[in-house]
Amino acid sequence: MKKGVFMFSVRLMFLCIFINGSLSKLERLEHPVTKPDGSLNILVVGDWGREGEFNQSVVAHQMGMVGEQLDIDFVISVGDNFYDDGLKGDNDPSFEASFSHIYTHPSLKKQWYSVLGNHDYRGNVSAQLSKVLTQKDWRWFCRRSFVLCSGMVEFFFVDTNPFVDKYFTDPKDHTYDWSDVLPRNNYISNLLDDLDLGLKRSRATWKIIVGHHGIKTAGDHGVTQELVDQLLPILEENKVDLYINGHDHCLQHIGSDGEIQFLTSGGGSKAWRGNIQPWDPKELKLYYDGQGFMSLHISHSQAKFIYYDVSGNVLHQSSLSKN
Ligand SMILES: *[C@@H]1O[C@H](CO)[C@@H](O)[C@H](O)[C@H]1NC(C)=O
Ligand SMILES: *[C@@H]1O[C@H](CO)[C@@H](O)[C@H](O)[C@H]1NC(C)=O
Repeated sequence: MKKGVFMFSVRLMFLCIFINGSLSKLERLEHPVTKPDGSLNILVVGDWGREGEFNQSVVAHQMGMVGEQLDIDFVISVGDNFYDDGLKGDNDPSFEASFSHIYTHPSLKKQWYSVLGNHDYRGNVSAQLSKVLTQKDWRWFCRRSFVLCSGMVEFFFVDTNPFVDKYFTDPKDHTYDWSDVLPRNNYISNLLDDLDLGLKRSRATWKIIVGHHGIKTAGDHGVTQELVDQLLPILEENKVDLYINGHDHCLQHIGSDGEIQFLTSGGGSKAWRGNIQPWDPKELKLYYDGQGFMSLHISHSQAKFIYYDVSGNVLHQSSLSKN
């Protein structure tokens, strides 16, 4: 590593530790910045683990190509990591079949930061959080909620699953692994307090929230009203820049100038074709019901996001600017 870059990373690490004095109990970690200008390039994929089926492998290949071109720093997974019912244990062969053996391109041999989706909660959650998986594949890092600090950006990863009433009141034929979540009201209020505190203390130029469920979405699942009621006010009050999610199996951008942009990247494997609900066309900048993924490029003055289809074609791009 060049000396300049090294000094830069040391300074950033110091900044991270300093902010760590916050009372928020969310686990914080740092991803060192390696580009001399401090910028970050990231890929975002969601709703993917199907042992390569439903074009998961094709999307993975394109992610590899784009990842190489952009020299990405890391990958974000927005949940529903393993279909249909998460992992059975930390020895479940789906881990290799859906992750290690699929995202094989050298450019994807980077850290992956993951949240859990509702399908992951239908399996063994502690297995996905287990260090054993990281021993099998060093790229794997999954937590319920955590803060990732990387230079001028702070990513707040939020476990959105416990917010959703119907998983508790009308779980249908599914069972959810709520161990370490109950009592639910305490879990949610602690999480919201910690997030609010973390956001208030943050000095990052860019504040980005990552969750599984959609807040604004024209997709089949529709808006998650519990998040609109409980999470969105905190995001608005603290002027976050982006909310990124999966859950709806589509690629989507909803937003108005000067407000939070809502980005869905849930096209990692099985797409839902033809499912779209009405949404104000002035806000709906992209709705694509096929497979694909998203990239994010963040510099001091700009956050740019680009959506790609299964063939690597650019479907849409947009950006936010700061002085
Ligand atoms: C996979 O992608 C191709 C386009 O490259 C598309 O024609 C095909 O329908 C997709 N398959 C599935 C199962 O979605
Ligand atoms: C969940 O996975 C962990 C880690 O593999 C294992 O120790 C535990 O027994 C599993 N729980 C159940 C209910 O299968």
